[in-house]
Amino acid sequence: MKTLVVCYSRTGSTHALGHRIAGALDAPIEDIADRVERRGIVGYLRSGRDAWFGHVPEILPSDHDPGEYDLVVIGTPVWNWSLSGPARAYLKRHASRLPRVAFFCTMGGSGSERVFRQMEKAAGRAPVATFARTQAQLAAPDLDKAVEEFASLVRARFEKAA
Ligand SMILES: Cc1cc2nc3c(=O)[nH]c(=O)nc-3n(C[C@H](O)[C@H](O)[C@H](O)COP(=O)(O)O)c2cc1C
Repeated sequence: MKTLVVCYSRTGSTHALGHRIAGALDAPIEDIADRVERRGIVGYLRSGRDAWFGHVPEILPSDHDPGEYDLVVIGTPVWNWSLSGPARAYLKRHASRLPRVAFFCTMGGSGSERVFRQMEKAAGRAPVATFARTQAQLAAPDLDKAVEEFASLVRARFEKAA
């Protein structure tokens, strides 16, 4: 199962979780990047508004071709109960080249189910598995165990579907 982990992260939480997932799945990790100023209160408000309205920012070219993988695991923060703009842009750009997918997200407290539905729609396919973590769960001692369980589920579902 040749796997790629891709994520967008504004303040590092989603990247940190993606890094653990990549380790558990023995996969490279790629960060999605755009040129929108997202720092400070103005960047925060812009990010939330754009996510809510489903705007698609321009993102920088990808290092890895998702079409060369068997599975791509895609991660995003939850912004205003919505998929972040850069992750939405990645899914839309690569929808026709995506193999099987799995999704993960990080959040303060809520919005993951809506975000996973939006990711499914943007990717044009259902995920083999999803994984959501709140900030509190990211700091909990069982995080590695939860990541291992997600990785095992992804492997099992992938093999079952293959
Ligand atoms: C603009 C904006 C909107 C957010 N909206 C939500 C939300 O609707 N629900 C939630 O649980 N957390 C929300 N958060 C918190 C982030 O999802 C959370 O801090 C996340 O882990 C940040 O990931 P990152 O460090 O990878 O950027 C929001 C954060 C930002 C910046």
